[in-house]
Amino acid sequence: MTETTFTPRVFSGIQPSGGLTLGNYLGAIKRFVDMQGADYQTIYCMVDLHAITVWQDPEALRRSTRELCAGFIASGIDPDQSILINQSQVPEHAQLGWVFNCVARMGWMQRMTQFKDKAGKNAQNASLGLFAYPSLMAADILIYHATHVPVGEDQKQHLELTRDIAAKFNHDYGVDFFPITEPVIEGAATRVMSLRDGSKKMSKSDPSDASRLNMTDDADTIAKKIRKAKTDPEPLPSEMAGLEDRPEARNLVNIFAALNDQSPDAVLAEMGGKQFSEFKPLLAELAVEKLSPISSEMARLMQHTDEIDRILSHGAEQARAITAPILAKTYEIIGMVGPKVI
Ligand code: TYM
Repeated sequence: MTETTFTPRVFSGIQPSGGLTLGNYLGAIKRFVDMQGADYQTIYCMVDLHAITVWQDPEALRRSTRELCAGFIASGIDPDQSILINQSQVPEHAQLGWVFNCVARMGWMQRMTQFKDKAGKNAQNASLGLFAYPSLMAADILIYHATHVPVGEDQKQHLELTRDIAAKFNHDYGVDFFPITEPVIEGAATRVMSLRDGSKKMSKSDPSDASRLNMTDDADTIAKKIRKAKTDPEPLPSEMAGLEDRPEARNLVNIFAALNDQSPDAVLAEMGGKQFSEFKPLLAELAVEKLSPISSEMARLMQHTDEIDRILSHGAEQARAITAPILAKTYEIIGMVGPKVI
């Protein structure tokens, strides 16, 4: 079979459940902005259908979806350069998701560590949707024939599954139809850790608000959370090797590096020898400088939700021009009788 060449296309998504954290910003959104431009067509999604795998208050979900869209735009995603959508307005995601439920194997899904983490001890009571979630995620990506997917480290296993689903589909039907997607997990902040515990990921679901920076935190809150962040009594070393057994210190250096578009080594070359009493105020100042303009722009955009809704409707229209033909072709490949023009 001759290899198909796919148009370079970036897709990624974020759940509109609760607010955005610094982890989402540095691990995902900031990198979405970097990939926007000449090399790729870029599509960014508020994955509302994923959010309902655990119960969401309907009004809160609508608000979070719009706020996430405001977060994308305030961070530099330009609706004239990127397609911005909420998943439920592009029905082909869920339609291809069903097809992939029939491609993915139970054994593959049972290995997903995020399901095990999220379902916890009470897996029997988790929704079927939470279990099937990674198959819908594969559909989100492959319904665009996306070639590159920027994400944080925690999504790596889901992207491996996406590749397995694409390969099995292509193999089972003897086609070269879905691309084998490249995960893009790069930079200093692919896994931003909790400010209270360097062994735990920074997450919006952590019960302690002090464990994370929220994109909507004001300057005082940001400074306070950084001041209280867990560290150790040693000064900063001048090279990353010196941070191997110091997860909290390493986390703060990585955050500084990602916010300042530097490598962690470059940060330590400047900051090596400093105590946390000196480094933390510098980090707080940098975080406020970078995050405050985003949060105030988010607040401004949230005064104009009609405009946000208009951007999402337009995005859905642009998206469907890509997804409808790919779904139609998928249905044809798998043997569905299509509509007949009379
Ligand atoms: P979600 O909503 O949990 O997170 C969105 C993005 O933020 C990244 N992220 C982090 N990166 C670094 N450090 C952290 N502490 C941190 N916390 C979150 C995540 O890695 C992710 O990139 N299943 C996905 C959403 C999704 C998706 C997709 C992503 C649905 N369909 C298709 C890519 C392509 C999720 O729950 O991400």
